[in-house]
Amino acid sequence: NGTQTIYELIGKEQIRLLTSYFYQEVSTNEALKKLYPEDLAPAEERLFLFLIQVFGGPETYSEQRGHPRLRMRHAKWKIDAAMRDHWMNAMLNALDQLELDPNVREAMMSYFVKAANHMINHE
Ligand code: HEM
Repeated sequence: NGTQTIYELIGKEQIRLLTSYFYQEVSTNEALKKLYPEDLAPAEERLFLFLIQVFGGPETYSEQRGHPRLRMRHAKWKIDAAMRDHWMNAMLNALDQLELDPNVREAMMSYFVKAANHMINHE
């Protein structure tokens, strides 16, 4: 059914797992770790709520944080192609730990690739 959102297809628990795996990757990546806060739990919650919203679920993220304006929120970090690759690899490794339908995985991948490229703000 082409009208179903990714959120409807995979559910909140898969997104919870994805963000948890992603932050496990962050915690073992020296380049990323320098940018993120010491306590990763609140950051994990923000990404969790954002991804629920972006994949078609409830808009709790915006209720709590306002309009995402992600590029602006990332302006305080130097994000070059190498940093984008660190982030993408962490997300790919996290995605690989879920057992997703290949079409769903593909759709999520292309969203993340686009979004990560959009976050680059430095040569
Ligand atoms: C926040 C880095 C790409 C979504 C953050 C934070 C850092 C960061 C250091 C602060 C963590 C926190 O306290 O919440 C990066 C880097 C990226 C990248 C280096 C490399 C391309 C992305 C992408 C997305 C994203 C592609 C979307 C899929 C978010 C969200 C927040 C966040 C939703 C929390 C914003 C807020 O409400 O304050 N990012 N990020 N990031 N990032 Fe990224």
